[in-house]
Amino acid sequence: MDEKFTRLIEAAEVAPDEGRRVRIDGLEPIAVFNVDGEFFVTQDTCSHAKASLSKGWVEGFEICCPVHDGRFDMRSGAALCFPATDPIRTYPAKVHEGAVWADLSQAPAQVRPPLRART
Ligand code: FES
Repeated sequence: MDEKFTRLIEAAEVAPDEGRRVRIDGLEPIAVFNVDGEFFVTQDTCSHAKASLSKGWVEGFEICCPVHDGRFDMRSGAALCFPATDPIRTYPAKVHEGAVWADLSQAPAQVRPPLRART
């Protein structure tokens, strides 16, 4: 296995036509989708208003956001309908030894809000 790939989840844990959220230390949340046994990996956070896309639903290769019904192509990350206008990141994925792996070398770090001092 290419060392750039990270093991995300057992393939059997992602039901057909559903998504699962995966957390990898230090990186933005990742979503894994299963379309008829083919797996796709994207950022989990909607580009519109931060909903979790893995909690939406899957129609073919489209992810439908659970909050405002924006849609994305999970293969390219393209935004397909308003109010989603900005694409989402996608990551190369493969199944190896029963698990879904992805190349997350281009994944941005998790951004945390700055801590506020108590007054
Ligand atoms: S939060 Fe996803 S379309 Fe608005």
